Amino acid sequence: MAKDGNLVVGLDIGTTKICAIIAEGRDGGPPDVIGLGTSPSRGLRKGVVVNIDVTVESIKRAIEEAELMAGVEVDSVFVGIAGGHIKGFNSRGVIAISGKNKEVTQADIDRVIDAAKAVALPVDREVIHVLPQEFIIDDQGGIKEPLGMSGVRLEAEVHIVTGAVTSAQNLIKCVNRAGLEVQDIVLQQLASSEATLTPDERELGVVLVDIGGGTTDIAVFVEGSIWHTAVLSLGGDHLTNDIAIGLRTPTAEAEEIKKKFGCALASLVKSDETIEVPSVGGRKPRVLSRQMLCEIIQPRMEEIFSLVDREVKRAGYDEAVAAGVVVTGGASIMEGVPELAEQIFDLPARRGDPTGVGGLVDVISSPIYATGVGLILYGAEHRREHRFGKASDRRIFEKVIKRMKEWFGDFF
Ligand SMILES: Nc1ncnc2c1ncn2[C@@H]1O[C@H](COP(=O)(O)OP(=O)(O)OP(=O)(O)O)[C@@H](O)[C@H]1O
Ligand SMILES: [Mg+2]
Repeated sequence: MAKDGNLVVGLDIGTTKICAIIAEGRDGGPPDVIGLGTSPSRGLRKGVVVNIDVTVESIKRAIEEAELMAGVEVDSVFVGIAGGHIKGFNSRGVIAISGKNKEVTQADIDRVIDAAKAVALPVDREVIHVLPQEFIIDDQGGIKEPLGMSGVRLEAEVHIVTGAVTSAQNLIKCVNRAGLEVQDIVLQQLASSEATLTPDERELGVVLVDIGGGTTDIAVFVEGSIWHTAVLSLGGDHLTNDIAIGLRTPTAEAEEIKKKFGCALASLVKSDETIEVPSVGGRKPRVLSRQMLCEIIQPRMEEIFSLVDREVKRAGYDEAVAAGVVVTGGASIMEGVPELAEQIFDLPARRGDPTGVGGLVDVISSPIYATGVGLILYGAEHRREHRFGKASDRRIFEKVIKRMKEWFGDFF
């Protein structure tokens, strides 16, 4: 049986499913997946918790299933966060290098990041991530690791992700009520990108699009760092609704039809292919052309990709993403999704299956688990720092505690 101290647990609280992945951390290697549990999620709308009791029950079920499979008990998790309330923006901080011999110390790095973070936020918003992009020492830019370098002036460019305090509080509350501690909160698309993007893609510039049930999460990477994040309140469930209305069939059937016969690009389907559609009210099933189904799906998928495209253009990164687009999340499983993305973005596109872990890789290889696997990778990275007793990790820990104190105020 695994030692508890070695475990990393990712808890992806999605709009359609809650999934818990348990992995065992290994020194000098990728974490090994040893357990997976999923349960349907009914307490979320558009990525945000709207019913605490129902969500707590789903979390418990997913965790129990994963524990059973892994043969271990878990007490703390890395949790993903999403929803229309999430906002990302870039900021910059400047300080004078104070260290001996004018060498950059860890304290200088912390100070410059604090300076970049010092932006006025409304009281109802909280910082979730401060992600350093590059450091600049005396006008020399493009520095990723400034520690020990000499100079007079240190600047940091960072991407700051903020979220609504109440949405984050409700998420933490659900996890705590399910009997678990939150080790850290991670932006869902940051997690998904850990699991699906290659270092080359991040370096060349890439757009990650995670199309889930209720939300589409976007992240833009340029020169190895994250530069833009956004969340759209549209996802695969909208496709299901369109099909239910278009084919006049119950939602549950529409979901089945979508998964079985759906295709995002009508031109990929032969004109004589047919599908059987169950009808409402006990009437006989109907036979329809698959083309007709695609004609319902394609415009909605086009809408999602066009909104992403507009978001990337608006942020000014459309020329900077040479590696193109990686689509992941449950809705990306559908036939024709990368092909349609290529047409809309006019860039290369591929489907992003989660990779980077060992162990039971076949059970987590679907794009549905991209966020869950990414949480494990993120968790393993930060846990390792902690185990080696790096000062920076103690700060991460203190940061989480401080952040939770801020969110919960007097309750803590
Ligand atoms: N084979 C498939 N073909 C088409 N769509 C699919 C398929 N499998 C799953 N989906 C769709 O993927 C969506 C769920 O994806 P995912 O599990 O990534 O979402 P989630 O994480 O629960 O939600 P969110 O990230 O929006 O909060 C649903 O709309 C589902 O219908
Ligand atoms: Mg998701």
